Amino acid sequence: MDRGPTMTTLFTNRSSFQTWRDSIPEHQSVGFVPTMGALHTGHLSLIEQAKSECDVVVVSIYVNALQFNSDDDYTRYPRTVETDFQLCAGAFVDAVFAPLKDDVFPESNVEIRTPSSDALGFEGADRPGHFAGVATVVDRLFTLVKPSVAYFGLKDYQQVAVIKNMSAQLHPVIAIRACDTVREADGLAMSSRNRFLSQSGRKSAASLNVALKKAVSLWNDGKSQAQELIESVTDDISTDSAIDVQYISIVRNGTMDQVQAVSENDVVIAAIIVDGVRLIDNMSFANA
Ligand code: PAJ
Repeated sequence: MDRGPTMTTLFTNRSSFQTWRDSIPEHQSVGFVPTMGALHTGHLSLIEQAKSECDVVVVSIYVNALQFNSDDDYTRYPRTVETDFQLCAGAFVDAVFAPLKDDVFPESNVEIRTPSSDALGFEGADRPGHFAGVATVVDRLFTLVKPSVAYFGLKDYQQVAVIKNMSAQLHPVIAIRACDTVREADGLAMSSRNRFLSQSGRKSAASLNVALKKAVSLWNDGKSQAQELIESVTDDISTDSAIDVQYISIVRNGTMDQVQAVSENDVVIAAIIVDGVRLIDNMSFANA
């Protein structure tokens, strides 16, 4: 759907955004891309997908304190709203919603959403409260933006599972689209946190994707036991002392259920820490 250039409007408070949102006729579809800013090509791919499918596109930029595990991590999260706005304008986004905390959570006691059991392991186990924070803010943003379709990146595989569950419970009319991971030329999944990597850490980080790809190709060559594929990834990256492996696992597509015998619909998921930066990635065996 090519509808030509659009003027992008920046809304920094709830009431002006709501007035604008209420002016959109009901028959128009609204695509929504929630972000925490520091936009990169990965975010832009979600925006492009939304532009191609929806009449109106909203991008939110909100660094959600509820989903951070340390004040330090929250404080150092990159904030680049002006550049982000320019990128959204260049992508012909209709509205950028960059609210303050009081616009998103005006109440003094925020009721925290309990995420589905998908949130228990992996990122959820290593980052207590993280997915409750994600579910709580996405629920609130969905209520404010009232999208027809919301777009999320499969780079954050577990986040997609948690949000799909939350949305099915609380916002069943919203369609959730999961979009492919956008990568740097050497395969590293794009992330706002990559900027914190040193030059050598950056190289180490890229080896995760190489190891995941190798596991997928080993599966294609007939190795079907999850354990041996996980060992292959572990062996490949553990030789690098700069990499601190958090977990490597294989789960059934769309779920966090671990599998023993791997089939095409399964996904290898991993988290590592390099230079104190937590990096996650995953790959579907359907990519073989
Ligand atoms: P943020 O990390 O800014 O990511 C916003 C969206 O961009 C998420 O859906 C994420 O999965 C997607 N994304 C990030 N890197 C990507 C890549 N390399 N390729 C494709 N998509 C990518 O995820 C969050 O913010 C927050 O948790 C949020 C959902 C906004 C709630 O606060």
